[in-house]
Amino acid sequence: MESNGRRTFLGVCLGGLAAAVAAVTVWPAYRYLAPRSTRATAARVDIPEKDIPEGEAKFFEFNGASAVLVRKRGGGLIALSAVCTHLGCIVQWEKDKQDFLCPCHGGHYTPDGVVTAGPPPKPLAKLPFSVANGIITVG
Ligand code: FES
Repeated sequence: MESNGRRTFLGVCLGGLAAAVAAVTVWPAYRYLAPRSTRATAARVDIPEKDIPEGEAKFFEFNGASAVLVRKRGGGLIALSAVCTHLGCIVQWEKDKQDFLCPCHGGHYTPDGVVTAGPPPKPLAKLPFSVANGIITVG
């Protein structure tokens, strides 16, 4: 009976250790991949035009979610939600390929947000923006 007690105690300790290791491993990955929380962020964001060279993307918080500005090769600007339309992970800009990759399930989007591969069911949402005096205003 005492041996069973020790086994139970050891089992509880190992189970707790496994849960702690899982929490330490999974939580950072979740925080990286999950959409930003709904903490209050600006409904209008100003970004200097010079911060986005041709072929580059700049990520920022807009209305409580991740968003991105892209200056396409050739110069065109576009503002998009950076939240994947599949299950809500945050997309990454692949400068070499000039496309967005969703790291969760391999979704790909053009710089305009159009789906080119993977499971996303619809394009990245476009955001309204204007440009005046060297400042891009999103929102
Ligand atoms: S969440 Fe982006 S492809 Fe699944």
